[in-house]
Amino acid sequence: MIFARIAGTGSHLPGEPVTNDDLVRRGIDTSDEWVTVRTGIRARHFAAPGTNSSDLALIAARQAIEAAGCSSADIDLIIVATSTPDFIFPSTATLVQAGLGIRNNCAAFDVQAVCCGFVYALATAEKFIRSGSHRRALVIGAEVFSRILDWTDRSTCVLFGDGAGAVVLEASDEPGVRAMALHADGSHHPDLWVPGNVAGGQVMGDPFLRMNGQTVFKFAVKALDEVMREVINLAGVPQESIDWFVPHQANIRIIQSSAKHLGLPMEKVVTTVGIHGNTSAASIPLALDCAVRDGRIRPGQRIVLEGIGGGFAWGAALIDV
Ligand code: ACO
Repeated sequence: MIFARIAGTGSHLPGEPVTNDDLVRRGIDTSDEWVTVRTGIRARHFAAPGTNSSDLALIAARQAIEAAGCSSADIDLIIVATSTPDFIFPSTATLVQAGLGIRNNCAAFDVQAVCCGFVYALATAEKFIRSGSHRRALVIGAEVFSRILDWTDRSTCVLFGDGAGAVVLEASDEPGVRAMALHADGSHHPDLWVPGNVAGGQVMGDPFLRMNGQTVFKFAVKALDEVMREVINLAGVPQESIDWFVPHQANIRIIQSSAKHLGLPMEKVVTTVGIHGNTSAASIPLALDCAVRDGRIRPGQRIVLEGIGGGFAWGAALIDV
């Protein structure tokens, strides 16, 4: 039987941290206290003009490849989860492929599931690997959400940042990914969306992120609790056997509430939202890479990844690392 296991991780945050006080200095009508107390976010990073999702993804990808002890030539599948692609087309994944110098025998495409994009991309890559069609995948979450923020809307612009995270997922005789669950309910799309598009050379509609924060909060806590229970049941392992929970880093209060629902001590939850804000599809692999590199997550341990975002789309994965 073929399993898929994480062989290496990488991540990248562009430029210097921008603190809440920096945002106040830039003219946003907010305060460090409001943002920290409501969200746990102390800083975020913004990509410089001209730096795009593929540039951030490429740096994270190179780190993940190095950590996996393989080379670009060994990669036969690249999936990038992003809601802020470099272009309408081609996919950001093909730009990463070109940046890595891979010319052939490597499929590359993007997936779009907003903040849950990395979980969707991981599930997709896992199916490819388990089928035997591909052996080594780069799964990346990369975003430049700063480009879709309305700086006059203080209820959203303080929440998000730019970044990328990546894993190499490879075929193995040992698990690996033990269980995954994906869900979506598109009837909620007006609660979190960018309701614009491009037609006839112009932006039609609204090109900025719009959110009904309290609806998102309530739905997220319930959905994340349910989907984490679902993957634990699917894997058939005791909850106590899980060493680390690596949630989507949107908001410390969502993370704390869903941990409380599940009866998890916060000491088992990786939180990095304070240092990079909500980086959408990049946030789970960013947090994962951080905890791998600082030695918290070690080989042989068991982790649960979970995320939720626009749509709504949500999901979770239980993985032995
Ligand atoms: N600074 C200061 N005051 C602010 C700010 C700000 N940045 N933003 C809003 N306020 C004010 C409002 O104007 C309002 O003032 P008023 O009472 O005088 O009208 C007051 O704060 C309360 O506003 P609410 O919107 O009710 O604030 P709430 O307590 O709901 O907190 C928040 C807002 C933090 C967005 C919360 O709803 C939340 O955490 N939602 C989850 C959404 C989230 O994290 N989304 C991320 C994307 S989705 C995902 O990744 C899962």
